[in-house]
Parts: sequence; structure tokens; C-alpha cells
Amino acid sequence: MLVGACSGVNSQTVDTGTHCDYRSGGMKILVIGGGGREHALVWKLRQSPRVEKLWCAPGNGGISQDAECVPVDIKDVATMAVLAERLKADLTVVGPELPLVLGVADEFARRGLALVGPSKQAAQLEGSKVFAKDFLARHNIPTASLYGVYDSPGDAYSALCAVDWPVVVKADGLCAGKGVLVAATPDDATAFIERLMEKREFGEAGARVLMEETLEGEELSFIVLTDGEHVLPLAPTRDHKRIFDGNRGPNTGGMGAYSADALLPGDLGQRILDTMVRPAIQALAAEGRPYKGFLYFGLMLTADGPKMLEFNCRSGDPETQPIVTRMDFDLAEALEALTTGGLHKFRAGWKDGASVCVVMAAKGYPGEPETGKRIDGLAEAQTVPNVAVFHAGTQRDGDSYYTSSGRVLGVTATGADFPRAIEAAYAAARRIRFDGAHYRTDIGAQSVSKTHAAGD
Ligand code: AMP
Ligand code: GLY
Repeated sequence: MLVGACSGVNSQTVDTGTHCDYRSGGMKILVIGGGGREHALVWKLRQSPRVEKLWCAPGNGGISQDAECVPVDIKDVATMAVLAERLKADLTVVGPELPLVLGVADEFARRGLALVGPSKQAAQLEGSKVFAKDFLARHNIPTASLYGVYDSPGDAYSALCAVDWPVVVKADGLCAGKGVLVAATPDDATAFIERLMEKREFGEAGARVLMEETLEGEELSFIVLTDGEHVLPLAPTRDHKRIFDGNRGPNTGGMGAYSADALLPGDLGQRILDTMVRPAIQALAAEGRPYKGFLYFGLMLTADGPKMLEFNCRSGDPETQPIVTRMDFDLAEALEALTTGGLHKFRAGWKDGASVCVVMAAKGYPGEPETGKRIDGLAEAQTVPNVAVFHAGTQRDGDSYYTSSGRVLGVTATGADFPRAIEAAYAAARRIRFDGAHYRTDIGAQSVSKTHAAGD
């Protein structure tokens, strides 16, 4: 890769006079974000012999073991671009949706900086559920039937007379995973609409609401990397959104996730690519908003085939954790290929077996979490073979770590099969202690019973 004027810093180069070539191990990568997904990306990028320097902005306590953390306000897209310029980053990877929806990719493009992430226009797929729903309808991509889109609470309440129950109520804008309710009764739906549209708990994001049919089946997170034309599918994953075992209790950002090729039996993967992924990516390009970056297809596997629940304009959290631990390729090379037009030539291999991520959360989560609790046992947990402990919400003080948000850690393990991966993840989680720590005890359990039932 040719980078700008040679500053001479750490470059293993032959000086050509005006430019220097960092190819012999010298990519400099900036990762934006500070959660478990970003720790997983940094952890994998750090293993690349191609990477010379890694920053994470803002990062977190645990990420600081693997990358230099730089404070930044992820809502301030201009400052992030200035940071990438100042650091002379060859590549920037964006983890969370907010900077993408605010146009960080457009700001980087204006300055000629390489970034993995979609433009503001393409990120509308996640930024507006109404936009996504219209897009799916325009391009005949299977999804739940829409009852309607409502701009006033009165219209939304009236519409409840003519829906089947349960009904799904969704805020149009970004609500950090809290803007959707599968409402079992009119009272539940009314209360949720009131919170979104009248109390404006999520501000303008709740000004518009849609309601759609409830789909039944198992969910699947099908995440791809795309340059706007070519597609590199990542390992399939399944998230656990509810807070309690047995999928009970309120939705969270995700309490754990797992991955194995068995999540895509028969030709399911090909069907998803043919009927959803390629049509969506082609349509985005045809509509003048070509998509570059991670694209997340949140699916329900219904009796009538896979149907779209949601798009995310980024990789999943915690899905990224079990994905990176199964990668048998150099992520830095894949991301470089994406930004330099070589994705179609890139071959990704995946480790056989399974991976499982168990999220350890703080007391109070998914409501207001308690923070500032000392975390013990991290070093012991890391001694369990095939385990990586990703930090989602921690602060570091010397050698000590403290909780700093609701989701604290993603304890992730690989194994030859699900039982072994699950056993390792929980063996590690049990060694970690902080006041109020809680986690689900059934991450991946469903997949074990399925594969046993199938006689595997
Ligand atoms: P979304 O942000 O649209 O993915 O919604 C969050 C979660 O709500 C999904 O992961 C599903 O668990 C659930 N959900 C969303 N839409 C539907 C639907 N139409 N039918 C059933 N569950 C849904
Ligand atoms: N785990 C769900 C998401 O990343 O949106």
C-alpha cells in the first residue's frame, strides 16, 4: 500500500524520495468505537503481521491492552477525520452505527481517507426503519407485512383496532436497541407508543412509528462485508436479545451469541445470498447509494423461508465476538481488499467447530447499570484454553479494571463443537467476579439440543 509523504516513522521502507511503502508489516489502523465488538475487531487485527499500529477511539479499559486508545466524541465526525489525518491512519474501521448515520464515511471520503463503513445515505438502512421497510418493499425482499407508518400518536392508537396480536411496534430512528416491542396486548402497545411518541423517551427517533406483523421462527444474524458490488459473507451467528434464560424478560443489546456453520443447513446460506443479500446490494448501488462496509441482515427463519427483520449498517455486537474467533484469515487484509477494490479476489477461511460469547452484565442492565465495580478474576479466566475475554464496558486503573457500562465483558470461546465451546466460555465466566454481575446460563444451549436432535 502506498501511503502519503514519508515521515520516516517506523516505516520499514525503501525511500523512493517522496513516498514510502509500508507493505512489509506496516498498516496503521484506527478503529472507532469502544465496546465489545470493537475489542474483538482490535484483537483480531492485532494478530495480523501486516498491522504496524492500532488505535481505538475512544476504546475502553480492556481495549487499551491491545491498541492505543484515543479519546473522541463519536458524534463528532469532523474531529474523527482530523484524528485519522493526524495519526496518518491507512485505514479506519467504524464499529457503531451512530457515526455512520451521522455521515462519518462522507467526511472521510471528502478528505480522501480510507474507511470501512457506508455513507450517510446508505446507512439510512439502519437510521430509518421506515426507509428500510420501503426499500425492502421496492425490491421484493421478503419481510414482515407492514400495517402502517404513523406520524401521530392518535393515528397509531387507532390502528391498534385492526391488527393481529401480538403486533410489532418500532420507532423509526436509532434507539440503541430499545425502539422495538413485540406487544402481546393493546395495553402494552399503547404504553410503548406513548413512551415513544408522547413522552419522546428516545427524542426525535420516536416521532414516527411503524407497526408490522409478528414473525415466528428462529433469528439469524447474517453479516457480510461488501465493497458495493462483491460480497464476503461472514460466519453465521445467532444473538440472544432477551435478558433472562429461556428468552424471557426485556430486550437488551444482546446477552450472548454463537456461531457454527450448522446455522446454515442445506442451501440456506445460498438462498439468503440470492434472495436478500445480492438484491439489496445491487439495489443500493442502482439507487445511487452504493454500500461499502459491514452489512447486517437480521433475519427470522420462518416456515415460509427467511424474512428480514432489520438491517444494521455495521457488524453486530455481540455477534462480532464469535465471528472473529472463527476467522482463519487476516482481517486487516480483508479490510484493505475491501477499500482497494480487491474484495472479489479475497478468500476467507473459517475454523470448523463452534464459538460462543457469553455477555457478563452489570446490575441494573438493561435499565440503568451500576458502574465503578472492581472486576476480579480476569487473568484466571484467560487461562482457560481457547478463551478470549473481550471488554465491552470497562475502565482501567493501572492493572485493575472497573465496570463502566451495562454490558461489561464478552467471554468468548471456541471449541470442536458447541458443548466444548459452551463449557469453556462458562468455565471462564465463572472465574470472573464483580458486584452485581449477571449473565445468561443458556447461551448456545438451543443449538446443542438441535444438533443432538439431528443426530450429530
Ligand atoms: P429490530 O431492531 O427491528 O431487529 O428488532 C429487535 C428485535 O425485535 C429483533 O431481533 C426481534 O427479536 C424482534 N422483532 C423485530 N421485528 C419483528 C417481527 N416482525 N416479528 C418478530 N419479532 C420481531
Ligand atoms: N446484536 C444485535 C445488534 O448488534 O444489533
